[in-house]
Order: sequence, then structure tokens, then C-alpha cells
Amino acid sequence: MFCGMHTVRLYANKSRAKILFSVDKSDYEIGKFQFPVDSSSLFDALPASRITKGLLSNQVISKAVIFDSIDSTNLELARRIKSGEGLQGEMILAEHQIAGMGRRGRRWYSPSRSGVYCSILWRFPKERMCDLGGLSLTVALSVIQSLDESGFTGLQVKWPNDVYLKNKKLAGILVEILDADMSDNAVSLIIGIGINTASSDLTHQDAPVQSISLEDVSGARVDRANIILSLSRSLERDMRQFEMGGFGYFHEKWDSFDIFRNKKVTVEFGGKTVTGIAKGVTASGELMLSTNDGIKTFNCGEVSMREGDDCCN
Ligand code: BTN
Repeated sequence: MFCGMHTVRLYANKSRAKILFSVDKSDYEIGKFQFPVDSSSLFDALPASRITKGLLSNQVISKAVIFDSIDSTNLELARRIKSGEGLQGEMILAEHQIAGMGRRGRRWYSPSRSGVYCSILWRFPKERMCDLGGLSLTVALSVIQSLDESGFTGLQVKWPNDVYLKNKKLAGILVEILDADMSDNAVSLIIGIGINTASSDLTHQDAPVQSISLEDVSGARVDRANIILSLSRSLERDMRQFEMGGFGYFHEKWDSFDIFRNKKVTVEFGGKTVTGIAKGVTASGELMLSTNDGIKTFNCGEVSMREGDDCCN
């Protein structure tokens, strides 16, 4: 299995979460759904009509569903796929996740209206499965590009798919692949993206790194709808490109955002550690390390700087 990509086997029971808004572009209508007002929240609710209007011309996102509170948008999409409801390009968004999931079994702390929490269903040809190693890296670059277009500069990627700002984690990606149905010629991927937008107390984030939010750097309220729409445009462009040529097209771009390039790092995988100088990634997205025993490549693991260095724990 590729790094940043998990296999989903367990399906929880059907969610009872309340859907705030659901619209399918073939049945597009604004205002026929109710939006309960969460007066306790300091932050604005997602403007569903603006989001769906903005998605109308998007060739990759076919449908958007917004939940007020849910266990996890990835889990919801898995349930929909399992029950045969999931549509190619369907996007699930939530204002709040009570069991947001991160990589390596960690939790993704998802306070109400304080982040972008979304998952997208994407079907990918089975015969191209070997290209999937670079997918989560591509999505991380897409997130960076979209935030850059919204005026947030200085973003970096930490292999395999974390987005960093000022040496702190801003966004994370969890790509899950559903147990393949052998009769089918495509696999279903769930691409989960979490971006910290508001300055909530993110010290709860269940990861051995420090977190940051967009508002921490801008000092002003962030319009989450703008971020979502900009992300959708980036994904539209990059997913099509990835579908045509895999990670190859993004390889050089990775180098220019790589937080660890030419730095001394340690990779930890399966209880072992290897130290070396980070030399970017291969054309299929594997991490390259120059070690005393030559160049080594990794398709999985956790990278960190040496103790005493001040970057990224
Ligand atoms: C990580 O860096 O560990 C990955 C974090 C991924 C979080 C997102 S939030 C939306 C989607 N739903 C989840 O439960 N997880 C992903």
C-alpha cells in the first residue's frame, strides 16, 4: 500500500447526521433546504448556495453535500459507496467532525466551522493502480496552489502529503482506497482533505507536530467558501492531469515546495529508522534519501528533522 493511502474495510452503520444541504447539479435549486443557525459558534456557517453555484461549471465535482456535524466525511463517503449511492466526483463537506480521521490511525481535531473538512469520491482505472503512489502528493500540491491563489504564500509540503506554513502543520490529506470489487474495472478512492482555517485551540491535534491555521497568519476572518471553491478548481485541473499522466507532471513542482529538500532527516518505518539527506521524490512519489549506503527510496514512513533542528518536529 502507498504512503498516505489506507484501505477501508469496515463500514459503520448508516449515519444519522443531519444533512444541511445536498444538491446535485442536474437538480440544482437554491433555498429549498433548511439551515439551522448555530448561534453558539463564533464563525460563519458555510454559504451552501454560493458553494454549489461556484461548483456548477466544475468538471470534477459532480455533487456537494454539507453536514452540520458528522463522524467523519471520509466515513460518510465510504458508507455511500458501499450502499451504491456514491457518485463519481461527489463531495462531502462538514461544519464539524466528531471523529475526524488522520493518517496512521490518528485523529483529526475538527472543531465547528473552524476548518475545511471535505472528502471527494474519485474512481480510478484499476489497470493504472501503480500510478496511485503519487496521488496524495498531487492533492497536497493542489491544496497549496489553491491557497496560494487565495493569497496565502510561503506554503510547503512535507512528504508524503502534509501542508506546512511557518514550519507548522496547516493541512492534511487522507486518501483511502476501498476494497476493490474484482468485477469492476475501477477502484473507488476517498480523498479526504482537512485545512485549519480558524484559530481554534489546535493543540488537541493528535499528531506529534504543531498546528497552525490560516487565520493565525492572516489575522483576519477567512472565507471558507472561497477556500473550498478555489480548492475545487485546483483539484479539477490537477486530477485531470493526474488521470492523464500520473505524478510525473507534478514531480518538478514538488521540488519547489519541499520543506525537507537537502536537509538531514530521519525516516521511521516499521519500527526502524534511517537517517540521510532528503533528495526529493522519485517520479512515482517515493521519498529519496542519500545515506552512507547510497540512495534509498521509501514508499512509506514518517519523516522528521534531527533533534535540535527547529523544523516540523
Ligand atoms: C493527516 O494529516 O493525518 C490527514 C488528515 C485528514 C483530515 C481530513 S478532514 C476531512 C476528511 N475526513 C476525515 O475524517 N479525515 C479527512
